[in-house]
Amino acid sequence: MSKIAQPDHPIHELIAQRWSPYCFEPRAVEPDKLASCLEAARWAASSYNEQPWTYIMATRDDQAEFTKLLGCLLEANQVWAQHAGVLLLGIVSNSFSRNGNPNRVAQHDLGLAAGNLSLQATALGLSVHQMAGINPDKCRVTYGIPESQTIVTAIAIGYAASPDASDPQLAERDRAGRGRKTLSEFVYRGQWGQSAY
Ligand SMILES: Cc1cc2nc3c(=O)[nH]c(=O)nc-3n(C[C@H](O)[C@H](O)[C@H](O)COP(=O)(O)O)c2cc1C
Repeated sequence: MSKIAQPDHPIHELIAQRWSPYCFEPRAVEPDKLASCLEAARWAASSYNEQPWTYIMATRDDQAEFTKLLGCLLEANQVWAQHAGVLLLGIVSNSFSRNGNPNRVAQHDLGLAAGNLSLQATALGLSVHQMAGINPDKCRVTYGIPESQTIVTAIAIGYAASPDASDPQLAERDRAGRGRKTLSEFVYRGQWGQSAY
């Protein structure tokens, strides 16, 4: 299934093709494709090239580890993420390694890495669904993550399934249309609230 964006201005086809499915085939992701997705994340820009991100990964071929990471998601996300091939926890270091100062843009950098990963996955025929809905305290205890780190998001990677062959409630979400704010709603010029478009 495809839910290609209908942009108001031309955009790269990969960006238009990317969307976040709820219906995944319960299928492993090939290790070379997974490595390419993480490699794309690796090459994201970051403030002072700090690369403040760390991922904890679980693949569905290791059922025990997959279940462990799945259990760190909120239940509403477990319902669909259980079918993904790969789960990642996205974590950032709160301070710069070069001088110990707080890194107030670490989560911005993690987002850039996620953007790279998502587009690389799309190029490889994979789908990505990111999640804020995690239990950070449980993640910290489960994996022994130090307080110097903030646990930000989880990411599911896998093969999107046909909604026809999936749970009807999840299928309904995947069949729903896509919407976005217009440029005039989020690009200002000159003054706060003054649309540039
Ligand atoms: C940082 C972030 C957190 C998200 N958290 C969740 C989540 O916890 N559960 C969920 O079902 N979708 C989550 N999403 C997916 C968004 O709902 C989805 O990206 C948005 O509706 C736009 O749809 P699209 O990605 O298909 O364009 C999240 C996306 C991002 C980028």
